[in-house]
Amino acid sequence: MKDIEYGIFMPVSSGGWIPSSTVPELDGSYAYNLEVARLSERLGFDFTLSQAVWRGYGGPSRHFDDNLESLVTSGGLAQATTDIGVWSTVNTAMLHPAIAAKMVATGSQISNGRTGLNIVAGGNRTSETQMGIGLDLDNSTKYRRAAEWVEVVKALWTESTVDYDGEYFQLKDCQSDPKPVGGVPQMICAATSDTGLAFVAKNLDGVLFEGTSRDSVVAIGQRARRISQENGDNLKTYCVFMIVPGDTDADAQRRIDLYNEGRDLVALERMAREWGAVSHDSSAHNPDNEGWKDSTAISTGTVAGSPDSIAEQLADMVEHADIDGAVFIMPDFIDDLTVLGEEIVPKLVANGFGRVGA
Ligand SMILES: Cc1cc2nc3c(=O)[nH]c(=O)nc-3n(C[C@H](O)[C@H](O)[C@H](O)COP(=O)(O)O)c2cc1C
Repeated sequence: MKDIEYGIFMPVSSGGWIPSSTVPELDGSYAYNLEVARLSERLGFDFTLSQAVWRGYGGPSRHFDDNLESLVTSGGLAQATTDIGVWSTVNTAMLHPAIAAKMVATGSQISNGRTGLNIVAGGNRTSETQMGIGLDLDNSTKYRRAAEWVEVVKALWTESTVDYDGEYFQLKDCQSDPKPVGGVPQMICAATSDTGLAFVAKNLDGVLFEGTSRDSVVAIGQRARRISQENGDNLKTYCVFMIVPGDTDADAQRRIDLYNEGRDLVALERMAREWGAVSHDSSAHNPDNEGWKDSTAISTGTVAGSPDSIAEQLADMVEHADIDGAVFIMPDFIDDLTVLGEEIVPKLVANGFGRVGA
């Protein structure tokens, strides 16, 4: 048993994470995210994290069609909160490291050192191809560029002037002041391939992943731990969990059935074709077959049931996947978040998975 960090993956994209017309409306607005961040802080969560998505999947549910920009959102949320960590996502294919370094340092003044950064190395085709970005990058190339990106931002955050002559970035007497409040912020990366995990283990503090089932969460968590051990053993692992709570297990199942009835096949097909092409989890969608037609709106990795049942399932995965942080998504970020904070997390804490931040 060990203490873990508890985070909330913010609903900055419309529709949340369920492509369906029968889910509670999540409009992806700043007003809604502000309410969610304040509630998350009141409930004692350790951090909020927002994703960086630049285009949605359309379809009747307009899945992800409205997206807030992550760093700007974090600036607002940092001003509106006092204790909770405020983490943003930057795509290293899209934002020059000198611009990102300055934006993050600025955010760290607004948050007084509560800033964290999740980077993605590229591969979100829907977002990127519309900008002509990332078309030529294979997996190892994108992580080579990301490694340079990380080296540059860290240098700008710690050195008075930076000269850098890399394959992807060249800087000459480049200066970035002020430095971030609290020093170099915690940096994680969403990655699942072996190449990605090795890059994260060598260069960053943590990896963010998700699984399509209990067993896939355990397998990815253990793989991340093994790759970390081969590279200095400093990596923290954060797993994203979709939870669907109900008063009883049957109640939760009724919610899932309802959301699946409204599944958005247009969005599901686009998502499957995009993610199937890049996923390294063999149980994920495969773009070469028509498997997406059987896709449910609710991800197969969803943890559903009564608060007791969800706490038990999470405890099992956190323990066997050796996870350091749980990052939550849910259909409704007010009512479900309240159940998570008031009923589920306290059960996990009572079972030995305390809050790192407590
Ligand atoms: C939990 C999670 C969150 C992600 N968030 C984003 C994101 O905000 N923006 C983005 O462009 N890609 C995001 N991705 C996709 C990753 O950037 C990447 O394409 C994918 O994880 C493939 O990594 P790999 O090449 O190491 O397998 C996310 C992936 C995961 C697993």
